[in-house]
Amino acid sequence: MSDRFDLSGRVAVVTGAGSGLGAGTAVRLAAAGAHVACVDVSGANADDTAKRIADAGGAAGAYAVDVRHKPDVDALLDEVAATHGRVDVVANFAGIIRTGPVVDITVSDLDAVFDVNLKGTLFACQAAARHMVPRGSGSIINVASAAVDFAARNNGVYSMSKVAVAQLSRTLASELGGAGIRVNVLAPGFVATAMTNRHFTAPDGSPDEQRRDAVLAGHRKSTPLGSICEPEDVADAALYLASDAARFVTGQILRINGGVAMPL
Ligand SMILES: NC(=O)c1ccc[n+]([C@@H]2O[C@H](COP(=O)([O-])OP(=O)(O)OC[C@H]3O[C@@H](n4cnc5c(N)ncnc54)[C@H](O)[C@@H]3O)[C@@H](O)[C@H]2O)c1
Repeated sequence: MSDRFDLSGRVAVVTGAGSGLGAGTAVRLAAAGAHVACVDVSGANADDTAKRIADAGGAAGAYAVDVRHKPDVDALLDEVAATHGRVDVVANFAGIIRTGPVVDITVSDLDAVFDVNLKGTLFACQAAARHMVPRGSGSIINVASAAVDFAARNNGVYSMSKVAVAQLSRTLASELGGAGIRVNVLAPGFVATAMTNRHFTAPDGSPDEQRRDAVLAGHRKSTPLGSICEPEDVADAALYLASDAARFVTGQILRINGGVAMPL
């Protein structure tokens, strides 16, 4: 029986691949056989992930691209397709967060978060579709958050952007399904990455182990599985959605959250 998780011969583009969940997913997709274009606004970090993949015997390239700039995103997908002849998977992990009460959201925070999380994701989806539609296949994986299932205080602008990403993805899944393209969403729970590092530091920015332990203990306690999500958990879910194992799955939100939210 063929391995439906095997990505040999496939080409994947992962944005936000320089850190955290995007880096973990880039490494996982490469280990499954894909050539991975590691994309990040930090070229140095994208390079690091591509090197990690190469050191492990995989195939990767690094691209310094800011997903907020549509022409650059279009050029990225054109370059990857021209170099490798195809684009099979686009996984949009590039994201940022701003926190604070909704009544205090500034125009600058609103623009910053929506420019990366929503517009950047949309631009990459549009560029992906241009290359996937003519080939009649492809998997787009967008990244929301467990935040879509809660109205948590101080997380308004971020969660609004992630709900928008989910709706973008469902709409695209409807529009592109007939062209053989699947569009799904990952909704991870809390993971310790650069994005969440603010929970582990003292007000002066120095590491605060006590606070870290308390925050992690709080997440464990509120999560039915009683543990913390790791980048590998998200990467394995991304591999599933990228692969033929998910050939009949589209328009879905895959929650990697330990059961912290269980919507019907
Ligand atoms: N860490 C969590 O708890 C968690 C939970 C749910 C969802 N997420 C989502 O997962 C994704 C990855 O988050 P993470 O925790 O790995 O964060 P991270 O900060 O470790 O990584 C995000 C990466 O995106 C890159 N990036 C930011 N702006 C960019 C831009 N304009 N263009 C290109 N790259 C850009 C950053 O340089 C960074 O490498 C995000 O979309 C985030 O919202 C994270």
